[in-house]
Amino acid sequence: MTRLALIAASLAVACLISACGRASDPTLTDDVIVIKFPHVVAPGTPKGQAATRFAELAEARFPGRVDVEVYPSAQLMNDDDSIEALAFGEIQMIAVSLSKFDRLTHAFQVFDLPFLFPDIAGVEQFQQSAAGEALLTTLADDGFLGLAFWHNGMKHFGAGTPLRRPADADGLNFRIMESDVLQAQIEALGGNPQKMAYGEIYQALQTGAIDAQENTWSNIYSSKFYEVQPYFTVTNHGYVGYLVAVNPTFWNALPSDIRAGLEEIVAEVTDWGNAQSVAINEDSRAKLEQSGRTNILELSAEELSAWRAAVQPVWEQFSDEIGPELIEATQNPAATNQRAGAN
Ligand code: LMR
Repeated sequence: MTRLALIAASLAVACLISACGRASDPTLTDDVIVIKFPHVVAPGTPKGQAATRFAELAEARFPGRVDVEVYPSAQLMNDDDSIEALAFGEIQMIAVSLSKFDRLTHAFQVFDLPFLFPDIAGVEQFQQSAAGEALLTTLADDGFLGLAFWHNGMKHFGAGTPLRRPADADGLNFRIMESDVLQAQIEALGGNPQKMAYGEIYQALQTGAIDAQENTWSNIYSSKFYEVQPYFTVTNHGYVGYLVAVNPTFWNALPSDIRAGLEEIVAEVTDWGNAQSVAINEDSRAKLEQSGRTNILELSAEELSAWRAAVQPVWEQFSDEIGPELIEATQNPAATNQRAGAN
């Protein structure tokens, strides 16, 4: 059991002993349920907009009973701290990149396999399949109940020098999220991966502590990485998406009408937010181009295949850890639905 799992389990027991909830849980006193919901990106990004909308709808539906405090742009804490804070019950809701649950589960590593999903529609199909939906509850025993997957978008590489061929990445220091698959991906390119919190990227690029990074257009634009990084390459090589999670002990202690209402709102916001995530990223890309401060390189099909080939060994490397069936399910989500229906 991981340290976090132990913390979550002991908190759950402590909570049960103290008849968790109304009297003992500060979030539930005075009949106002406070949901602290920190995240690390700007309010205009797909996640930023979805979090704000969740707060608006929850407060409109439960006036005076639910108070959602959204803290964008890592104002309250970074993602790693928020994972821990959720387990401790210090905050009530998170939407953290799937890559950052690496230390708790190998299952989400599937989302980091390079070039596994061709686009957001492919990710969506998998997440809505039986195999994908099952991932929502994979961390429930560890203290993280997944309510939804929210999309950001597909990732692209950015660097201080043009990245046209995999060899261009050789020897560069790349910032990555806290994921062993992403580490292996950069190593396969001959780069030096550095796991780093999102809020530190801008300064690390500015000071030259890192040379390169990978992210979505909406993150690159809203966090102004283009001010300190002149070259981007359109690769669509990976996915940034989030597990929207709550602490199950907290969630199950909510009055049932509120819990059911909030779950409905999460579902509604998920449909709304995911449907506009591609457009938000396209808009950010257009604004990057209009800024006149960036060079966005489009690759030929041949050049793109070279990147694909360079990182392909990562699939094999992580196949056993992730589970070959799960990888297979991403390629053929309809088949897992049929199997689930037959059981
Ligand atoms: C990153 O760290 O690059 C992303 O997880 C940030 C985010 O929340 O989109």
